[in-house]
Amino acid sequence: MKEDIAARFRETRALFEHTGNVTYFNSASYGPFCTPVRDAIRTNLDLRVAAERDDSHDAFTTSDELRNDFAELIGAEKKQVGLGMNTSFGLNIAAFGLPLKAGDEVLISDIEFPAVVYTWRAAAERRGLKIKRLASKDRFFDIDELLRNIGERTRVLSLSYVQFFNGYKNDLETISEICRKNRMYLVIDGIQGMGVEPLDVKKSGINVFTSGCHKWMLSPQGCGFFYLSDEVCDLIKPPFMSWLGVDWEVKFDDLFHVDKPYFDSARRFEMGFYAVLNILGMKAAVRIFQDLGIDNIQAHNHALIDRLADYIRGNSFYRITCSMAPKHRSSIFTFSCDNVDKLHRRLLDNKIILVNREGSIRVSVHLFNNEQDIDRLIEMLDGFSK
Ligand SMILES: Cc1ncc(COP(=O)(O)O)c(C=O)c1O
Repeated sequence: MKEDIAARFRETRALFEHTGNVTYFNSASYGPFCTPVRDAIRTNLDLRVAAERDDSHDAFTTSDELRNDFAELIGAEKKQVGLGMNTSFGLNIAAFGLPLKAGDEVLISDIEFPAVVYTWRAAAERRGLKIKRLASKDRFFDIDELLRNIGERTRVLSLSYVQFFNGYKNDLETISEICRKNRMYLVIDGIQGMGVEPLDVKKSGINVFTSGCHKWMLSPQGCGFFYLSDEVCDLIKPPFMSWLGVDWEVKFDDLFHVDKPYFDSARRFEMGFYAVLNILGMKAAVRIFQDLGIDNIQAHNHALIDRLADYIRGNSFYRITCSMAPKHRSSIFTFSCDNVDKLHRRLLDNKIILVNREGSIRVSVHLFNNEQDIDRLIEMLDGFSK
């Protein structure tokens, strides 16, 4: 069985042409395409260039399949999932649509990615909300600080599942229990964990989960999805709606209806017609996650990270800067040393693709990586430290 899974990872790696040229550890920035993604996009491009057939109906079918695919991947139901163009789309649905009153407080960590910060800042200005920044501890989210800052008017915690620069995975079950007890909405930016760290949105008690798919989900830029719990779906009133928020039953020869009800599902908040090239690319990418399973992907990634972490621990020139606690580790591993900028340039010059974030080298390990990739990196690190 173990061998069978290892073989499937090897076969999947063969679908990623970049593996023959570069050692890629940068999925936390953007995911590379595999050949099925490229082929799906190319096929649609050719169809549009030929312009003989209207493919819009296919887009409705694919989108509906995708809502179901994402629901299965995060433990939700199809009606709780809608398609968006990035993470910010779902954050905006929450920030501008949740039933909040002037004076209500929103809690945001001081180490949040700007997508969370700027969305809520605009909503706060427009809606008279108050934003409270939670101080992190050693640059990790601090649950005690959360508890200390919950007051009478606190209604929302908006948080990343996995922190973008150091890979710290938040303990969503504990955090959501705190939110539930204090009648707060929990809004999760999921992009740095989606596809690599298993998640059950219902068990985690999340109200809004949103993720772009161009990073770990290995899909085109400009696509993503959002989840809304039943509890909030009916309460949310964003300042935008579109004609595809109602059911045309994919019949577009009778469009003069003005009284159709909006979908009784998260789909009602989708915004007009689909980015079809993206949708088709995303569908091909999602198949890989269904085939391998997110549990297996996590185990694969963590095993490779362990191999690297063992080396780092044994070389005093380097130090680990991420959490390796089982609850908090993710598929992002970070470490630091003297001369990080120089090391980063050296790695890039040797076709090891990764980034320098906040003074640490960020290694994003994904399903197409293998032990040889890690050993190449170790070899370079060894040379640099001497
Ligand atoms: C935690 C986090 N949230 C959001 C984003 C991006 O937001 P969007 O998908 O809306 O561009 C990133 C990275 O680009 C990120 O690391």
